[in-house]
Amino acid sequence: MQNDAAIIARVEEILDAHQGMEGPLLPILHAIQEAFGHVPQASLPLIAQNLNLSRAEVHGVMSFYHDFREAPAGRHVLKLCRAEACQSMGADRVADHARKALGIEWHETTKDGAVTLEPVFCLGLCACAPAAMVDGRVVGRVDEARLDSLLEEVR
Ligand code: FES
Repeated sequence: MQNDAAIIARVEEILDAHQGMEGPLLPILHAIQEAFGHVPQASLPLIAQNLNLSRAEVHGVMSFYHDFREAPAGRHVLKLCRAEACQSMGADRVADHARKALGIEWHETTKDGAVTLEPVFCLGLCACAPAAMVDGRVVGRVDEARLDSLLEEVR
């Protein structure tokens, strides 16, 4: 876990790198999440001050967009598509199987810190439903057996 001083130093670098950009809040939040794996609380007042926004505005934007995390994820992130095309091809079954196999619910991380499970609403892979994303890699036609082998790969 990085301490606040290290976080602040890195966030200041990121803020400097975005000076003068128009509409910089989302790019800054992306860069911070890329650096830390989540957007640390300690960065919010710095962003607010730098962009002349209130902390509530920054927090509101950050919590509106689901891609930004307030806490670190596990070592791997498994996203399962919950949208219509995937549902029509058995995504519910796959999701039940995933929750049981991992012993966690949506947005939770396994006790060993290996996997965070998240819903996602369409990955643009509707023709290869049900779709999943593992650490940013999309995978199609995920049935229970495919899910098991994906989980074996990352655990
Ligand atoms: S509905 Fe699942 S990828 Fe589009």
